[in-house]
Amino acid sequence: MGKKISILNFFNKIKTISTIKRNNSLLIVAHRGASGYAPENTISAFEKALQMKADYLELDIQMTKDGKLVVIHDPTVDRTTNGTGEVHHYTYEELCKLDAGGWFHNKFSGQTIPTLEEIIETYKSKIGLLIEIKNPMMYPNLVLKLEEVLKKCHVDRPMNNEIIIQSFDFEWLETFHKSLPHVPLGLLVKYRVHGVSNVQLRDWSSLVQYINPNKALVTKKLVKRIHSYHMKVIPYTVRDKKSIKNLVDSNVDGIITDFPDYFT
Ligand code: G3P
Ligand code: CA
Repeated sequence: MGKKISILNFFNKIKTISTIKRNNSLLIVAHRGASGYAPENTISAFEKALQMKADYLELDIQMTKDGKLVVIHDPTVDRTTNGTGEVHHYTYEELCKLDAGGWFHNKFSGQTIPTLEEIIETYKSKIGLLIEIKNPMMYPNLVLKLEEVLKKCHVDRPMNNEIIIQSFDFEWLETFHKSLPHVPLGLLVKYRVHGVSNVQLRDWSSLVQYINPNKALVTKKLVKRIHSYHMKVIPYTVRDKKSIKNLVDSNVDGIITDFPDYFT
């Protein structure tokens, strides 16, 4: 009998971790594209995320020496290309010569670093875009450049939150908001031992619509508090099914994950 129960428990457990039931409103955000399966922040990772029916692509923005906004996570090219050095020491033309796929697997060799404009034009009518501005204080005319790109691509007044700009830097988001007040904003929040206070939540809610915390910060109680300030919660970065299940149980509004296919 004992053995029977433990076999049953085993199969129940498998069922829980092999299918994560997604409610209709849960947003699946493909972190740097489907970066569990293809090189992050490249067209191959974004295409994979689209095939996997993600709701949003998450992507990271840095700026080149000649002022192009490009899609790459680190301030240097060392980790994700075959080159070395700082992104802002490269012109866009020089950056295009780097291979951004071979480091992940040689079958992705030949992938290049996309521009923000290219990604918006390719995906804006197909999937949402959660655009993270990296190291904004490093780039003095970043707000202007971003404004130019969003206006050129006609997404400076996004419908239905099809574009969201997020950053860890609240002051920079305030500055950006003065230029383009109709673009939805998300504040990324790192793990902090003492959590977040109601005073912070109230201040943040005067500017942003999304609080996107490190998953380690998330509890059901915190989600409820953030919701009470009329903001949504999309935690990062989730790579295992057990954490996804815990976050779903905490009533988050979305999940930023390398594996957008973990949901049914
Ligand atoms: O979208 C949030 C998440 O991407 C923040 O961390 O380092 O992966 O950009 P990181
Ligand atoms: Ca990011």
